[in-house]
Parts: sequence; structure tokens; C-alpha cells
Amino acid sequence: MDEQTRKELTAWLEFYQELGIEGFYRRKPGAGETQPHFEAAQPAQPAVAPPPKSAAPPMPTRAVPAPEPPKPVAHATLPPAVIRPPSPAFNLFEAPPPPRSGPETLEQIREDLGDCRRCKLAPTRKTIVFGDGNPHAKLVFIGEGPGADEDEQGIPFVGRAGKLLNRMMQTVGLKREDVYICNVVKCRPPGNRTPEKDEVDSCSPFLYRQIEAIKPRLICCLGAPAVRTVLGIKEGITKIRGQFYNFGSTKALATVHPAYILRNPREEKILREDFEKIRDFLKGV
Ligand code: URA
Repeated sequence: MDEQTRKELTAWLEFYQELGIEGFYRRKPGAGETQPHFEAAQPAQPAVAPPPKSAAPPMPTRAVPAPEPPKPVAHATLPPAVIRPPSPAFNLFEAPPPPRSGPETLEQIREDLGDCRRCKLAPTRKTIVFGDGNPHAKLVFIGEGPGADEDEQGIPFVGRAGKLLNRMMQTVGLKREDVYICNVVKCRPPGNRTPEKDEVDSCSPFLYRQIEAIKPRLICCLGAPAVRTVLGIKEGITKIRGQFYNFGSTKALATVHPAYILRNPREEKILREDFEKIRDFLKGV
């Protein structure tokens, strides 16, 4: 396909994607049809198609407190190509969309992540910490990023914060093997610093795909970076913790990171309180 045609095709596909239409097929030219012809298929169900790697996170709406008026969606200015009819040179057979026969599996997502070099965390990490637990979990915990122990072992939450997380789960009768645990970024930030925006932007599409694959009933965001990434909420965690939000059709609870409790042991009761909310929520699903 030549460059011009590729540009025009991209512009058309982006335009249809903005309309929510993601699948295309080409009708075989019939009698009297001399030009290539295409029609839009039914809009792809977002629940089936995982977000494209460059997609913005799904915009959650707050459940509690009362929903804010929706922010105006910034529509990208359409490139000039989209207001022209398709060029007769189009042949969509040259660029068929990859067939999707259902939701992705975690294995497929892990495979796609590969030996990831997408951000500047790659050179200093030892191990990619993809996630751990039940791929059909009703509950997914999302932390910030691997620490030193996780980087060594390739498993999330195995260090001191992980031990506290395990203890909290035990307190409310949850078993680690029943839940799924992952992080906003999959590689350890040097010195355990907070992941930076470009790192989160590179890694979070994999997190969204993991959530989409697992389809949990509840997501528990542990700490501010998870809350910011998953729910788009920038307020302080101690202000918004203990509340349920909507993340698509999944509920999400924001709570403090176990590492915060390790630094402020007197606050442990707030984490316990939030874990009791998780327990009560899961009883009802
Ligand atoms: N802290 C996190 O946020 N994630 C881990 O996996 C371990 C500690």
C-alpha cells in the first residue's frame, strides 16, 4: 500500500473509531459495482475488544459521591482526509483488521508484553512483574509498582507490604490464591520512586487489558498512583478512600497502600475497615 493510501485509510479508520465503529468488511463487488466498496460492521463491543495499546483509559464515572457532570469530551479535529470520499484505490483486503474471536487471555497479554523495552524502567529492572493469582478472580488488587523483592522474584506484593496485604486479606477471610494482584507499572522504578507519567502511559494499557481479561467484580486500588491511573482521581487518597467508584461495569474501591500503613502503623484500622467493605461487597456478588 502506498504512503498516501495508508494515510487516508488511517484517517478513515480513526474517524470510524471515533464513532465507535471498529470492524469492517468488504462486500464483494456485485453487478454494476465497479469500485471497491466497504461497509461498517456493527460497532465492536468494548467489552470484547480490549483497548488499543495507545488508548486512553476508560473514563470511569464516580459512584460515590454523586456523579459529577460529565466533562466535555475533547474530540480530535478530524484530518482533512475524512471529509473526502474513499479513494477508488482503497482495497481493504490489503489491511484486514486482526480477527478477534473473543476476549484476550492473560497469557496472550503477557506474550504481547514480551521482554518489554517500552519505557525507561526497562534497563534497571531485573524481572517484569506481570501479575499473579486467579485469572477468573472476582477481586483484583492494583498496587503501584514492584519493589526490590518483587523485582527479584517476579511476583507482586511478596515483600513487607505484601505480607501486610496477605494479613489484611486473611483478616477478612480472603485467600491470596482467589484474587489477582498486579501493579500500575510492571517494572521496578529505581529506588522505589513513584512511577512517572510516561512510564504509566506505556504500561497502563497492559493493566487495562488485564482487567478486561479477568473481568473482576471489584478492583481495589492500593494507593494514589493506582487510584489516579484506574479512576482518574487526583484527590488525596486519605480523602477518597473507602468509597466505591465505577470502572465501566466493574466497581472499584480506593484505599491506602499497605506501605503507607507500614510507615503509619497507627492507621492500620483504616485499611482493615476498607477490607471489611471489600468482604461485604463480595458477599453480595
Ligand atoms: N508495592 C507495590 O505497589 N507493588 C508491589 O508489587 C509491591 C509493593
